[in-house]
Amino acid sequence: MAKFESTQHIGDIVANFPKASQVFMEYRIDFCCGGNRPLKEAIQEQQLDETEVIDKLNNLYKSYSEEIALKEENWLEADLDVLVDHIVNKHHGFLWRELPNISQLTTKILRVHGAHHPELAKVNRLFHMIKMELEEHLTKEETLQYPAIKKYLESNSKEDLSEAVRIINELEEEHTAAGNILKELRVVTKDYAIPDDVCATYVLTYEMLQTLEEDLFQHIHLENNILFPRLFAINNK
Ligand SMILES: [Fe+2]
Ligand SMILES: [Fe+2]
Repeated sequence: MAKFESTQHIGDIVANFPKASQVFMEYRIDFCCGGNRPLKEAIQEQQLDETEVIDKLNNLYKSYSEEIALKEENWLEADLDVLVDHIVNKHHGFLWRELPNISQLTTKILRVHGAHHPELAKVNRLFHMIKMELEEHLTKEETLQYPAIKKYLESNSKEDLSEAVRIINELEEEHTAAGNILKELRVVTKDYAIPDDVCATYVLTYEMLQTLEEDLFQHIHLENNILFPRLFAINNK
């Protein structure tokens, strides 16, 4: 079912579906300060193919909703290598893809709105702290811990299992540190409240930060509450 039409305002489309910004950036459609007008106007002005742009938006929306509608696996029983691949593909993939985008956004709103919203300096700083910490954390998981888990699953040896659980405490501490930065971001942004005098990029940035929070919570949940305890349980047998 079609979701978006060219009569809708550009800013409203991005507010309802933040990923629409990818399509608008691709076609150089200004969704920030030029967002308060119907999409049709920008399409005509830039002599774009209306059907092509609208189809692209609706297809992206469709694949996105199908992805989130996929039935959740029972991760307590799924094979451990399937769980690890799911974490890497879905959650690490999300972070590697979106951290650079959100970085550009927090810096942009600081530059444009920082004079009237001094808290944006702290938002930008906190975000870059979590970005740096997560990049190191993901690398540690992808190059040390997950390969160790896979090695154990193949060999079934006690030594490989000890290697797979060796750095879990360290990883859990890093999860807590990331969670604390997310909490601080919520305090600084007053639960991501949008001021009245701001543009669509500001709204998009806060939405992306909330998506980051949501995804990271799910990601940390799968590691702390499912993957790590399952490994400990095998180790303690
Ligand atoms: Fe992870
Ligand atoms: Fe992790």
